[in-house]
Amino acid sequence: MARILGIGIATLDIINSVAGYPPEDAEVRAAAQRQCRGGNATNTLVVLSQLGHRCAWGGVIAEEPDAARIIDDLTGFGIDLGPVKRTPHGKVPTSYITLNQANGSRTIVHYRDLPEYGYEDFQNIDLTGYDWLHFEGRNIDDTARMLEHAQASQPHTPRSLEIEKARPDIERLFPAATLLLFSRHYAQARGSDDPARFLHDMHQRTPHADLMLAWGEAGAYGVSRAGQLAHSPAFPPPRIVDTLGAGDTFNAGIIDACLRRLTLSETLESACRLAGRKCGAAGLNFLGTPA
Ligand code: ADP
Ligand code: FRU
Repeated sequence: MARILGIGIATLDIINSVAGYPPEDAEVRAAAQRQCRGGNATNTLVVLSQLGHRCAWGGVIAEEPDAARIIDDLTGFGIDLGPVKRTPHGKVPTSYITLNQANGSRTIVHYRDLPEYGYEDFQNIDLTGYDWLHFEGRNIDDTARMLEHAQASQPHTPRSLEIEKARPDIERLFPAATLLLFSRHYAQARGSDDPARFLHDMHQRTPHADLMLAWGEAGAYGVSRAGQLAHSPAFPPPRIVDTLGAGDTFNAGIIDACLRRLTLSETLESACRLAGRKCGAAGLNFLGTPA
């Protein structure tokens, strides 16, 4: 069991399940609808807490009625909300998600009107209580300062960084992270369709960090800081039910495996098995509540 702090977002996800993805300008009826808490960092924490870790979340909550769902869900998983910043302004970030029942694909339209969690908020956290720090690659100026502060004050505490979207200047965050978790979307936005080649190039730029790259149904690739390359296939469940949060679950699996000091190949396999299991279940409560 490790103590893990995650910095990032929590959202309200409104998920419509449809028999097939609709064409533009169509009107279709959803087969089912559910609303739940989402958001990359909090999704990762919820999975980590089910794996037995003690997690805390640093992010922003708007004081409005939809916030209750987020707070209830996170506290239900035993996640410490001590580092949270509350604001009377804005709205809980909301994702309108179309889940295609035919193949489990998820299409997200995201609306956001909320201040970001800032360096000033992060600076108030006592980092000595954590064994692992996890960040989302967003809000670049402040996140760069958070990472640098963590690196300077707790140099031996690992710092993972999720690189999901190709945001301007996101590469500025790389030097202070010890583990970079790339998405296929990011690699492709950078012009690479070859995972091994992408990781090789990234390793030249960031030799101080371990690098992981999820590649959907083709599994995942990794390069250690020593330059060793490994790949794991995906582990598809008997039926793909819901791929929303598969990447966030994969990231949780990588962090958990690193904390258990597995080898690179074992780490990738463990994370892909976990993410595959998630794809066979609706939502993220697929492992049972924490002990
Ligand atoms: P996301 O789209 O959520 O960012 P990915 O599609 O890259 O994430 O998937 C993350 C991980 O989830 C993959 O590395 C893989 O292990 C697993 N995964 C995703 N899609 C499937 C699938 N169709 N079957 C089995 N595993 C999958
Ligand atoms: C899934 C997810 C959703 C959320 C969206 C935010 O990875 O975290 O839960 O609505 O992405 O970008």
